[in-house]
Amino acid sequence: MMAIRSIMVLALLMGKTTAFLPPNNSFSPSPTSLTERSNTRTSLSMTAQQSYNKVFLAGASRGVGNCLLKTLVAEGIHVVALVRSPEVLETLNAIEGVTAILGDAFDYKSVEGAMDGCDAAISTLGGSMSKGDGSGDDAPTKVDYTGNSNVIEAAGILGVTRLVLLTSIGCGTSKEAAPPAVFDVLAPTLKAKEKAENLLIKYYTNMNWTIIRPGGLKSEAATGKAVLSDDCLAIGSIHRQDCADLVAKALTSPKTERQVLSAIDPSIIAAVNPDARPITEFALS
Ligand SMILES: NC(=O)c1ccc[n+]([C@@H]2O[C@H](COP(=O)([O-])OP(=O)(O)OC[C@H]3O[C@@H](n4cnc5c(N)ncnc54)[C@H](OP(=O)(O)O)[C@@H]3O)[C@@H](O)[C@H]2O)c1
Repeated sequence: MMAIRSIMVLALLMGKTTAFLPPNNSFSPSPTSLTERSNTRTSLSMTAQQSYNKVFLAGASRGVGNCLLKTLVAEGIHVVALVRSPEVLETLNAIEGVTAILGDAFDYKSVEGAMDGCDAAISTLGGSMSKGDGSGDDAPTKVDYTGNSNVIEAAGILGVTRLVLLTSIGCGTSKEAAPPAVFDVLAPTLKAKEKAENLLIKYYTNMNWTIIRPGGLKSEAATGKAVLSDDCLAIGSIHRQDCADLVAKALTSPKTERQVLSAIDPSIIAAVNPDARPITEFALS
């Protein structure tokens, strides 16, 4: 099922629907919708600042995702948050400008149902495993890949072409930035996140994606001094609110289209960067 869905997403993105899709399938777009999608894609690339009205957010219950929810709402953006606890659902639904929907990121249909009608998607998912005893088909899988791949696939199926994925320094090209001891401890998580990055980079070539890799996260007040950088060796720390603010800025900046950026606060002296290696800032405008 997963494989069929992946083929359909690829076919949709490559505009080869008739060749790949089985007859009578419910995901087949009309020729008009494909044309509209490609026109939207062109105009998005050419406008100075992009704007989004309704943004799907996975990971909004806490951490960077929760900071981001508040930042986006303050900017007048309606946020559709996928959450898995009834208590969080109630809390978030009490915020004006938020629609919280109960669902688990491991369940593809929950993700697709919540994202339907949104014009951009963001995932800050992390930290959890699916149920399982660690063996055979029931082996636990990390939300860092499975949850994120559901978000990516749903965006592809629904034609939500703007997607921001929060991963981590240590993934992919930034492996060398992480001190070996840190990398070793986080390896399973980093590899799962990297797999999600690669899914997006290699197969969703017609989407307007941005990957943001934060350094070590801290829950302290924003400094306002954090930056994005395309230096894949950049390393350091960042406060969650600053990270959220950078994600919100990156969402609307056309310069971040198909960019992989690290998020770091050079004003924080981090143990992983004791020499305060200079960081080149990526210009968002
Ligand atoms: N900690 C660090 O120093 C560090 C460094 C670099 C990157 N990162 C990454 O940055 C991101 C944000 O980290 P954070 O520490 O601020 O947030 P976090 O505490 O890791 O929050 C993760 C979010 O994902 C949600 N989530 C997890 N599994 C889910 C599922 N199956 N279905 C729906 N939602 C699910 C959680 O919801 P629940 O409340 O329901 O669990 C929570 O909202 C994460 O991807 C993290 O791995 C962290």
